Amino acid sequence: MSTSELQELCENVTQLTQEVGDFIRGERKHFKQSSVEKKGHNDLVSYVDKTAEQMLVNGLSELLPGSGFITEEKTSSVKGQVYNWIIDPLDGTTNFIHGLPCFCISIGLLKGETLVLGVVHELNLDECFYAWENGGAYMNGDKISVSPEKRLGESLIATGFPYHDYDRMVPYMEVFDYCMRNTHGLRRLGSAAADLAYVACGRFEAFYEYGLNAWDVAGGIVLVKEAGGTISDFSGGTNFLFGKEILSSNSGVHEEFLGVIREKFKN
Ligand code: IPD
Ligand code: CA
Ligand code: CA
Repeated sequence: MSTSELQELCENVTQLTQEVGDFIRGERKHFKQSSVEKKGHNDLVSYVDKTAEQMLVNGLSELLPGSGFITEEKTSSVKGQVYNWIIDPLDGTTNFIHGLPCFCISIGLLKGETLVLGVVHELNLDECFYAWENGGAYMNGDKISVSPEKRLGESLIATGFPYHDYDRMVPYMEVFDYCMRNTHGLRRLGSAAADLAYVACGRFEAFYEYGLNAWDVAGGIVLVKEAGGTISDFSGGTNFLFGKEILSSNSGVHEEFLGVIREKFKN
């Protein structure tokens, strides 16, 4: 696919997230707690996640015939030869269920092993973030870029608390403690996709979390890269899509923050 074909596809994906977003927002208005199911410890879901995902799978299959899917709710097991969509139909399910305003649709497109397109649509502010390989990153039609800040001490940091994997809680909390004392502060929005989108548009200088799945981060990774940011795992390597640990930043504070993470996580 050429860059202009990717751009067209990306714009079509944003139209799809608008439609599916209307469904999710509509359901929120009369959502009942009795609709909540438990997939596991602290792992909540409802018919809204599943229906939204099916709508996305149907729409994306039409937009890119032959493509496959890696999705949180497993509504499709189709594998694509070249292209595979990585989808979280509702990132921030706990917020959605409790009526808190931060939840997103998150979509990434893999070509082979490379992410080439990302869309994160935060549905409460109706902010649709999107990017395609070598095309830059945008929010609702405007180009976005990461913050120019170079000092961790002048940075606002986002994170997510571990939901079920508590094995690395001690180093995680040590980084948390460091950030509390040495930055502008920490925020926990409850949507990793939003955290990444907010790094891409300069609201946060950095975001770190462990225990995430590929569908939590795929869309946001493309946004951060195309907006001028840097992504790594906790060792400074590239195993951040499927490797269950991610450090993303505006680039300017990456080395300094990575040094803190490496020291605490002993990587
Ligand atoms: C969760 C959110 C949250 C992160 C969790 C994820 P979900 O996704 O991204 O911010 O801390 O680890 O599981 O369950 O709302 O799709
Ligand atoms: Ca998620
Ligand atoms: Ca989800």
